[in-house]
Amino acid sequence: DADEAATLRTPIVAVLGHVDHGKTTLLDKIRGSAVSEGEAGAITQHIGATAVPLSTISEMAGELVDPTDFDLPGLLYIDTPGHHSFSTLRSRGGALADIAVLVVDVNDGFQPQTEEAVDILKRTQTPFIVAANKVDTVPGWNPNEGVPIQESMEQQSERVQGDLNERLYGIIGELSDHDFAADMYWRVQNFQNNVGVVPVSAMTGEGVPDLLTVLMGLSQRYMKDEMQIDVEGPGAGTVLEVKEAQGFGTTVDAVLYDGTIREDDEIVVGGLEAPITTDVRALLQPKPLEEIRTDQAFEKVPEVSAAAGVKIAAPDLDDAMAGAPIRVVRNRDRGRVIADVEEEL
Ligand code: GTP
Ligand code: MG
Repeated sequence: DADEAATLRTPIVAVLGHVDHGKTTLLDKIRGSAVSEGEAGAITQHIGATAVPLSTISEMAGELVDPTDFDLPGLLYIDTPGHHSFSTLRSRGGALADIAVLVVDVNDGFQPQTEEAVDILKRTQTPFIVAANKVDTVPGWNPNEGVPIQESMEQQSERVQGDLNERLYGIIGELSDHDFAADMYWRVQNFQNNVGVVPVSAMTGEGVPDLLTVLMGLSQRYMKDEMQIDVEGPGAGTVLEVKEAQGFGTTVDAVLYDGTIREDDEIVVGGLEAPITTDVRALLQPKPLEEIRTDQAFEKVPEVSAAAGVKIAAPDLDDAMAGAPIRVVRNRDRGRVIADVEEEL
């Protein structure tokens, strides 16, 4: 119901996988479909993240999603790089995420950073689904733009179906080697015990409705208790990166997973030497439809509520540490908040 929805925060979805397996293209497809559905204004570009509201998801998922089944506000996606040198960003994304999408190219199967991502998800006990991407590259594939995957698979020749199934069962086998019982998502009864595999094409959009539906279902069914937050409460988040921003000095790019952060709030941030206590000078978000991780075209916002990506400008952030906690002090005892941050480091 509406009262309940007001206190349910957006689940955070990390997108993980090997380099070039199609993570960013998949997010672009989700954003792009929203634009073509005339919902461009509904997509909010965050720092290092993309928010997609429920109304947009149900629009894109079409017949697969009945919005009245859901009371979560939407999903916040965090893209991560697949290059081997970015393993800290992947672990941070995995640790922050409520659920994850492991993107695997159906031609390549499991690769080193796929293995690494599976290990992170296992360690952090993050529920995940697999997007078996690039189904359109199976030789002889007949694309059906944006339709649910089973519908498109039925329309392929028997040879193409056999070829794709062989690759999908290869991925299911590799998941099994990592102790995950996996199956095609439409055969999974209980997503708590089994990993669902969703065949998709980030290029043609086939299977994207299915992916959105499964993610919403997963969040709704298993994450609801953890999504209950006091949206007015003092914010809590994690530093993704520490960066210079023109005109603002050293800033932190953060993901807020609880509560609210406001301009002029006192915050405590984990630092190299000791926790840093400082006052928020500005909260910055990219202007609508700007690209992820670009430094230009920020706008100041008076407050941000979880879950969200935000760039925080404040004095004394030079020693802030990527991966460290951020806490808003507001009406609490500063010493207690500092102790909390120290404990989490
Ligand atoms: P990193 O961020 O470097 O780890 O890569 P990524 O996983 O974000 O991959 P990206 O989305 O950049 O895609 C890599 C290449 O694969 C690009 O040339 C994409 O156009 C292509 N690609 C991604 N998804 C698909 C797909 O479903 N079908 C086809 N044919 N090509 C795809
Ligand atoms: Mg990418």
